[in-house]
Amino acid sequence: MSHELKSESSDSQGLSKGIRKGRFKDGMNPFFAKFNASISFDKRLFVEDVEGSVAHVTMLGAMNIIPETDASTIRQGLAEILDDFLAGRFEFREELEDVHINIEEALKRKIGVVAGKLHTARSRNDQIALDLRLYLKKSSTLVMQYLADLMSTILDQADANIDLIMPGYTHLQRAQPVRLSHHLMAYFQMFKRDFERFRNALDRIDEMPLGSAALAGSTYNTDPVMVANLLGFSRISANSMDAVSDRDFAAEFLFDAALTMTHLSRLAEELIVWSSSEFKFCELPDAYCSGSSIMPQKKNPDACELIRGKTGRVYGDLTAILTVLKGLPLTYNKDLQEDKEPVFDTIDTIMGCLNIMTGVISEAVFDGSKMLEAASESYLAATDLADGLVRGGMPFREAHEKVGELIRKHEGTGIELKEIKLPSPEQMVESRIQPGGTARNSVISQIQAGRRFVGDISALLDSGNPERVIKRII
Ligand code: ARG
Repeated sequence: MSHELKSESSDSQGLSKGIRKGRFKDGMNPFFAKFNASISFDKRLFVEDVEGSVAHVTMLGAMNIIPETDASTIRQGLAEILDDFLAGRFEFREELEDVHINIEEALKRKIGVVAGKLHTARSRNDQIALDLRLYLKKSSTLVMQYLADLMSTILDQADANIDLIMPGYTHLQRAQPVRLSHHLMAYFQMFKRDFERFRNALDRIDEMPLGSAALAGSTYNTDPVMVANLLGFSRISANSMDAVSDRDFAAEFLFDAALTMTHLSRLAEELIVWSSSEFKFCELPDAYCSGSSIMPQKKNPDACELIRGKTGRVYGDLTAILTVLKGLPLTYNKDLQEDKEPVFDTIDTIMGCLNIMTGVISEAVFDGSKMLEAASESYLAATDLADGLVRGGMPFREAHEKVGELIRKHEGTGIELKEIKLPSPEQMVESRIQPGGTARNSVISQIQAGRRFVGDISALLDSGNPERVIKRII
């Protein structure tokens, strides 16, 4: 057949036929082989795949499902394969479809037929579910580390700029004066919630599916709890059919990332607006801006614009995985291979964006006098004026109406409310002393609580550094 893949039949060791060897008479259509292969992207799961195999084969040996000597030979072979990979010596072959078969065939080349015992009591269906969980455990921890860095940077800027006063906005209309640090700390709260969401989602990722085999479990006397312990999982999956087809944890990770991107995008938008000629509230660092090829005066906030723009692709990744999942009957279906690229793309995007935003925030320079000038417009005192009337006994609704009338009378005359004794922006800010308010002490309390939070999570993140399973076992 002219469509037959040459390499399938011509491989002298007969290895590349791999899992097709028994069942299939004909080779794969070469276009379908390419279409079907996932090795170009699932090679990112190489380390996790080896780790999973090392734990699995250790359990097979310990439970006498295969002889201990074979288990040890396989472990050694896998260790060498991991070394080859880490040294950039591993040769990937597309005709071997995915990372699992690539590793298994490499093992066969290294240690011979005994390699075939590794796949006892498991299937690629539970294997890939395990790999992705291992990978997302590590990735979530990394994202959390990046979030902690961004939060620290926000705290530093809030601290350093505690005395700067700016207009706070609603509807992008100047509303009431606030401290810049109060505004920045609002973003701290968003990223804190994001951090908590990732931490919380780790609980759903932390479930060990190996042993579910293809879908129904296996006929061997396996010990999945032992595998879970070796790999650092706190529990095993409760239902083999769910275990091989569940990707909720990946969808959840993508949602958490999408919402984090929403927050990054909002902050990026603020920085773009604040650094514009119209506002001039801040100067973005040269290191994160670019120039125009035609207009020499321009300094463009590209880093922030890209963060805002890249938010779209993360939403796309979330939509992709939800759509892949929605029509799937139990259990494993090849559609699930489409889960990986959105996950990888989102990981790369969110880590890049968090890292860049941390740099932008840490070096942004705020112009206190420009902000104070904008916050000094007399109309910003309207609420405080009404509050003053209320303190004299007037019901708030009536006071609101009176001040409204006063403003309407003055509007268009070009005269501000100068003839009335108005509180200064500092006085207005300082009178908002309740917890979560914008007075100096309230903001300082927020910053202190923020520092405590970041201190606690940094200790947690340091202690959670995953040790390589393969190093521990061999
Ligand atoms: N490459 C596959 C994936 O990513 C691995 C699992 C293959 N399982 C199967 N029954 N074909 O989902």
